[in-house]
Amino acid sequence: MTSRTHSGSRYMQYAKLRSGAKYNLASSGIMSYPLKELPVTLEELEICGSDFYGYAPLRERLAKLNGLTADCVVTAAGTSMANHLALAATLEPGEEALVEWPTYELVVTTLEYLGVSVRYFERRMQDGFRVDPHQVERKMTPQTRLIVLTNLHNPTGALIDEATLRAVGDLARKNNARVLVDEVYLEALYERRPLPAVHLGDHFLVTSSLTKAYGLSGLRCGWVLANPELTERMWHINDLYGVNAAHPAELMSVIALDNLERVAARAKKLLEANRPVLDSFLRSRDDIEYVRPEFGTVAFPKLRHGSVEQLDRLLREGYETGVVPGSYFGMPEHFRVGIGGDPEMTQAGFERLGLALDKVRANG
Ligand SMILES: Cc1ncc(COP(=O)(O)O)c(C=O)c1O
Repeated sequence: MTSRTHSGSRYMQYAKLRSGAKYNLASSGIMSYPLKELPVTLEELEICGSDFYGYAPLRERLAKLNGLTADCVVTAAGTSMANHLALAATLEPGEEALVEWPTYELVVTTLEYLGVSVRYFERRMQDGFRVDPHQVERKMTPQTRLIVLTNLHNPTGALIDEATLRAVGDLARKNNARVLVDEVYLEALYERRPLPAVHLGDHFLVTSSLTKAYGLSGLRCGWVLANPELTERMWHINDLYGVNAAHPAELMSVIALDNLERVAARAKKLLEANRPVLDSFLRSRDDIEYVRPEFGTVAFPKLRHGSVEQLDRLLREGYETGVVPGSYFGMPEHFRVGIGGDPEMTQAGFERLGLALDKVRANG
C-alpha cells in the first residue's frame, strides 16, 4: 500500500471513536491536567507569534530539558507529527524500515503512507518484551535504513536499557542506517528519566511530547531531537503541513514546562495510587500471564484461555469498562490496560475487569 490513497489507521479510528468507557482502562496516558491548575493568565497569551520554525523560547526549554542546543529540536503537533517528520526525513519511498513487534500501529501506517517497506523483529513475552539485538541483527537486511523502537514500549511498558540501545545503534551504523526511538512514555520516569537516546550518536533520533506522562495532550507539545542537518530537513518537510503552530498552545507549553515539577507531581501521585491496584490485580489472577512493567502507564497481560474479543464485548456491554484488545497491536491473545486515570475509577475498572474475566472463565 503506498501514498495518498492510504485508508488511514484502524487503531486511531478505534482510539478516537470506540475506546472510551465509564471505567476507562484503555487510555495509555495520565488523565487530563486541569487548565485551572496551570498558572496561566489570559494576559500571558497572544494569538500570533513571529517564529515560523518553532517558538524560540519553547525550543530553548525543550533543548535544556534534554541536554541539547535548540538547533537539535523540532517542535511538532504531538509525538504523532514528530514521528511523521522523523520518518519522512530519514526514509525515501521504496526504502526499508525495521520495526519492533508488537508495535504502535501508527508507526507502521505512517511508514506505509510514505511508501516505505516494513520488516519486523519480535519483542518476545518470554524475554520480558526486551529488545534483543540478535533478533534485530537477524531481521536487518542491507536495505534497512531505519530501526524504530518505542521506549517505554507501547503496548507492554518494557524499558530498553542504554547498553541495548547502544548495541542496536552499532548495528544500524554498520548498515548505514539510523535508529528512531519514540520516548513518549519514557517521560513517565520523571526525575529518573535517562538522557534521551539522541545522546548516543548522530544516527539516533528521538520523538516525544507532553501528552502521556503529564496529561497535557491538548497542548500538542511534541518534539523531535536529532542532529541539526536532520532537524533542518524536518523543518522543511513541516513547511508542507502548515505555516506556523498554534501560538497560544506554544505559549502555554512554555508555561507548562516552567511548571513541570508541579504537573509531574500530580501525575506521580496518580501512578503511585494506581500501580498497587494493577499489581494486586495481576497477582490475583491465574487466568492471565504477564510481564510486570516497572515503570510507566500500561501493562499487556495475556489471556490464558478464552478470547479477548469476548472479554472486550463483555466488558463494554456488561461492565461499562474499556481495555484495548491486543489485536490492535497484532497480539490478539493480549489486552492492554492503563493506570493513568482517576484512582477510584481505576480501582473500580480493575474490579470490573476481574468480574468479566470470571465470566470468561465460567463460559469455558
Ligand atoms: C508510542 C506512541 N507514540 C506516539 C503517540 C501519540 O502521541 P501524541 O499524543 O503526543 O501525538 C502515542 C499515543 O498513543 C504512542 O503510544
